[in-house]
Amino acid sequence: MMFEPVPQFIAPGFQIKFATDDWERKAAAALRRQVFCGEQRIFDGDDRDAVDEVAVPLVAVSLLGVASGDVVGTVRIHRDEGERDTWWGSRLAVERSYRKVAGIGAGLIRLAVSSAHGRGCHRFLAHVQSQNALLFQHLHWRSLGECDLHGRPHHRMEADLAHYPPFMTPETGFMSLARLAA
Ligand SMILES: CC(C)(COP(=O)(O)OP(=O)(O)OC[C@H]1O[C@@H](n2cnc3c(N)ncnc32)[C@H](O)[C@@H]1OP(=O)(O)O)[C@@H](O)C(=O)NCCC(=O)NCCS
Repeated sequence: MMFEPVPQFIAPGFQIKFATDDWERKAAAALRRQVFCGEQRIFDGDDRDAVDEVAVPLVAVSLLGVASGDVVGTVRIHRDEGERDTWWGSRLAVERSYRKVAGIGAGLIRLAVSSAHGRGCHRFLAHVQSQNALLFQHLHWRSLGECDLHGRPHHRMEADLAHYPPFMTPETGFMSLARLAA
């Protein structure tokens, strides 16, 4: 008898959304500590700063059937204090084992920019670690120049808003379906 090969692993889908629940915000903060303090060693112990007082956190939540799973990605956005039609994104992080498998980083960038666009943003900027500049270029961002931040090379980059139409329901966000593993 012949059997069809069974995929080794069927990754779940993900909901990419504003963090609306306390557990989502706490899990996003824990993921940021894991990535920016533990893995990259950019900050010592905690990466929180003054921007967190005003920023909106976004999360990617793994979906297992009908149940919510874990926060596996996060980023935050905030409106510039001086130029009120300018928004910034920062602290983009995806849990290590979910990188380059499900478009989570790209999905978080999409919601970050398009939700800000829906709130009146005319310019969206980020300081992008240089090793990630190509990822952002592929997503219709351009470099405005290089700079050092936290002792690391970065590109100051701007999103092309024409590729990020305003998104008006970021509290629900959208689904991103993971690919089947080979
Ligand atoms: C950078 C990061 C957020 C990307 O997240 P991710 O979920 O792996 O990215 P995605 O899977 O959405 O990537 C989308 C595409 O870009 C590619 N890509 C991912 N990272 C890339 C990089 N650094 N350079 C070039 N391409 C990249 C992916 O392979 C994928 O390509 P495909 O569509 O052809 O398959 C993740 O690697 C991360 O958390 N890194 C550690 C923290 C960090 O560096 N934060 C960013 C600070 S600027």
